[in-house]
Amino acid sequence: MLEVTGLGHAYGGHRVLQGMDLRVGEGKLVTIVGPSGCGKSTMLRCIAGLMAPSEGKVVLNGAPIDGVPDDLAVVFQDYSRSLMPWLTVRDNVGLPLRRRGLGRSERRARAAEALESVGLKDAAGKFPWQLSGGMQQRVSIARALAYRPSLMLMDEPFGSVDAQTREDLEDLVLQVHRSQGVTILLVTHDIDESVYLGDRVVVLARDPGRIRAELPVGLPADRDQIATRSDPEFVRLRAEVGRLVRGAAGNGAADGTAGTGGTGGTGERVGAAPHSGARGTVKG
Ligand SMILES: Nc1ncnc2c1ncn2[C@@H]1O[C@H](COP(=O)(O)OP(=O)(O)OP(=O)(O)O)[C@@H](O)[C@H]1O
Ligand SMILES: [Mg+2]
Repeated sequence: MLEVTGLGHAYGGHRVLQGMDLRVGEGKLVTIVGPSGCGKSTMLRCIAGLMAPSEGKVVLNGAPIDGVPDDLAVVFQDYSRSLMPWLTVRDNVGLPLRRRGLGRSERRARAAEALESVGLKDAAGKFPWQLSGGMQQRVSIARALAYRPSLMLMDEPFGSVDAQTREDLEDLVLQVHRSQGVTILLVTHDIDESVYLGDRVVVLARDPGRIRAELPVGLPADRDQIATRSDPEFVRLRAEVGRLVRGAAGNGAADGTAGTGGTGGTGERVGAAPHSGARGTVKG
């Protein structure tokens, strides 16, 4: 159980986060969506213990976080900087396990298992730069999985991959979430993705960053890229989240766009995909 209470942060005199309260139950997948610059990464860094917040507290499984906890893993957007180019894929995945004090054979076994679960069994001996962007991001996810954290924080983990790879990685996250029961907090710009992945969607407003709304996702636990995206509940939620995000960005003019997408039900990512140019609308 993750408990965030009264979380606030200022960089110098610049207030970025204010009064954030959030509870994430064990085994839940909560998505966080909000306009660019509203403080999503700052919030995640505070929760990860990578940064001390100016106010409030973060408690994970009953213990206050005041440094990176042992049972936490983070997946960042920029896989090219998060993998060590001089280490093989296998050794990249095994690296954090040293911190857990695991011996070489145990590290290898866990790396092999995690790589298999992300479909990269055959890439274990390669170097990151020999892999495509989507494969590198799967290595980052495998590294987090091998660590077997109780909480996984993901900051726009699919922001730099193509649309098809993105869908594959979304389904991979759902699959590991279901099979391993790990609690996941995932930040995204992508409104559709926030609904598709989440048990609950948290919408942030900005200046200062704060929680604008929390929406339960009443979709069946089993998600499917085609069927889920045309489910009336998905279409309704996507329009609602879109409206809230655009309102949060202070860009009321875009509200109509969300409505159009909401009633269209075509499965296209209105106001969502970073590559579609719609991200600019969200930025406001
Ligand atoms: N290290 C820093 N020092 C000073 N200001 C910062 C720092 N990091 C972020 N900020 C500021 O804090 C605010 C929130 O930034 P943050 O990166 O948390 O937002 P975000 O929601 O993750 O944005 P994006 O969607 O673009 O990733 C922004 O105004 C940003 O300029
Ligand atoms: Mg960010």
